[in-house]
Amino acid sequence: MLRVTYLSRESDSLTSSALVDLLEHCKHNNPTLGITGMLIYANGTFLQTLEGEVNTVETLLAKIEIDRRHRDFQVIKREATRERLYENWSMGFERLTESTLQDEPALAAFQLQDFNPEYLSAHPTVVENLLQRHRSSHWDPLIREIDARDQFIAELRRALANARQRNEQALLLIESVIEASEGGKLTDIHLQLCRRLVETLRKR
Ligand SMILES: Cc1cc2nc3c(=O)[nH]c(=O)nc-3n(C[C@H](O)[C@H](O)[C@H](O)COP(=O)(O)O)c2cc1C
Repeated sequence: MLRVTYLSRESDSLTSSALVDLLEHCKHNNPTLGITGMLIYANGTFLQTLEGEVNTVETLLAKIEIDRRHRDFQVIKREATRERLYENWSMGFERLTESTLQDEPALAAFQLQDFNPEYLSAHPTVVENLLQRHRSSHWDPLIREIDARDQFIAELRRALANARQRNEQALLLIESVIEASEGGKLTDIHLQLCRRLVETLRKR
């Protein structure tokens, strides 16, 4: 398989509906071709990664290169690969904004105005970070927040279950001490168990 990343500049300012048309075409065409990837757009600049079988990628890339909707097409990375990085995306799309950048600590020093072919071709790590975010299912800040809350609730559940367990054991021990005491059968073992329980309760 082959993965290719390129940069280009729109020829004329693309309207939202022109972008929708382009994406609709990708979403219709790419699954049939077995192409997956990501397209990021801002400031009239395109950053796209395409992956799939070598010949299919090369053929599609040749078509894309001569597409009049953009110019200054330059491949910045070409890599042979065994596995897909964007298997969930027939063509993921992101219109980059200031606020998406704010949510990304790895891109703290990167400004939206830097999203242009000159800057990006000279900064492969920024390109990598921009694309990287879409590889994980957690790239969306809202999804990250929901996941964090889910994790918090799972931890609360665990803590509650543990607390209930400790209560249960403490109760049992107190009852057995009362029982033994009433029957005049309180032993050192009860005392040891009480001490151990106190230690356990103090630790948590
Ligand atoms: C920035 C940009 C990205 C594109 N990405 C894709 C793509 O991922 N898949 C695709 O089929 N066409 C893509 N196209 C459209 C192709 O350039 C071309 O119009 C299309 O493949 C022609 O499809 P056809 O052979 O079905 O007529 C893209 C065009 C531009 C300007």
